[in-house]
Amino acid sequence: MHYFQYKDGHLHAEDIPVADLVREYGTPLYIYSATTLKRHFKAFDSAFEGIHHLTCYSVKANSNLSLLKILAKEGAGTDIVSGGELFRALRAGVPRNKIVYSGVGKKAVEIQEALLADILMFNVESRQELERINAIAADLDKVARISLRINPDVDPKTHPYISTGLKENKFGLSRPDALETYALAKSLPNVDPIGMDCHIGSQLTKLSPFLEALDRLKAFHGQLLEMGIKIKYLDLGGGLGITYNEEEPPHPEDLGRALVESLKGMDVTLILEPGRVIAGNTGILVAEVQYTKTNEDKTFVIVDAAMNDLVRPSLYGSYHRIAPVKEGNGEQMTADVVGPICESGDFLAKNRTFPKVAQGDLLAAFSAGAYGFVMSSQYNSRPRAAEIMVEGDKHVLIRKREVYNDLVELEEEGLSLIDELQK
Ligand code: LLP
Repeated sequence: MHYFQYKDGHLHAEDIPVADLVREYGTPLYIYSATTLKRHFKAFDSAFEGIHHLTCYSVKANSNLSLLKILAKEGAGTDIVSGGELFRALRAGVPRNKIVYSGVGKKAVEIQEALLADILMFNVESRQELERINAIAADLDKVARISLRINPDVDPKTHPYISTGLKENKFGLSRPDALETYALAKSLPNVDPIGMDCHIGSQLTKLSPFLEALDRLKAFHGQLLEMGIKIKYLDLGGGLGITYNEEEPPHPEDLGRALVESLKGMDVTLILEPGRVIAGNTGILVAEVQYTKTNEDKTFVIVDAAMNDLVRPSLYGSYHRIAPVKEGNGEQMTADVVGPICESGDFLAKNRTFPKVAQGDLLAAFSAGAYGFVMSSQYNSRPRAAEIMVEGDKHVLIRKREVYNDLVELEEEGLSLIDELQK
């Protein structure tokens, strides 16, 4: 469910015609719907109403400060994976005691920053990381609250690049290693093992992998109790999929019902780290058709958004629905929708049939709110797109369009130093 609908033949973001926003801000343009965002958060969060829980939105999906601020006001915590995400979460007003820190490669300085911020918990992914956290916490005279990320070896049945809970993935600790590492954690003075964590993958469209992972964690929990470790938090990660095309992922309510049922009798606070299901259908990317052409028997629609703006189709072969901003007369075309970047891998859609467009028309790529802007780059020296947040008939610019100066600003100093180097 989202608030990007056609009214009188024109695509609207809530109550605002998308074409009006383009007139003001140009293309490529990311447009988000605040009402959709809040609705998705509420639908997810309320699915777990029956138990103690904390919904920690996964910042990596979309880290715009304004979007984070809206979610924080709705009561969300955050799942972060870098010092930069911690900085953003705090800047956006996310309470420090609702922040969990995941990721396999936390650097010392990042750990230090998170300890100074006094976040809720580190999700630790290796023995060396645990030892590093303990040492840094000791230096700061603090005790770090931690959980260990367990790799439950469950197949999430999703794209291999975004599967994370199989034993061949780099994430987490195997169950035997995790047991040893919990024993170590118990013996270390500056860490407090208060949780247990896993995340098995992203864009999951079935309930069964979540339940399988939870079953394995529950069995593991029994072993922890035998060791005298009583945890307070069970973090099941994120991963719930959304509909890009014809997928039929479970509704958050189904996930909630199943997990609540399975957790009966366990005295823990459930933490969830949803990203895509909150932000994905909250945003669209709008581009303008620059040219159309037909080579041999293949038609190309060349737009001004490219793989630097939305890399998912190029990187994962992902599907994003593409549709013109102004509804046509019913005539269809089949084409590759491509950007101006000098690689054949630069496409938003391949062999796609959609209402016919011509030079100057606007096209929207749907479901671009998660892993869209955040994965954008300046490749081919293309300034990043602007981002707009709409609510009802009002809107604000939440990130300015980058300008050419943004491309070179950090290189200017080098420009004078390079002459010295070559003297
Ligand atoms: N927690 C952890 C530890 C994660 O690694 C992730 C995503 C999440 C939560 C949020 O998962 P979600 O609810 O969004 O599925 N760039 C890829 C997705 C990568 C996901 C990585 N981890 C894409 O565009 O599909």
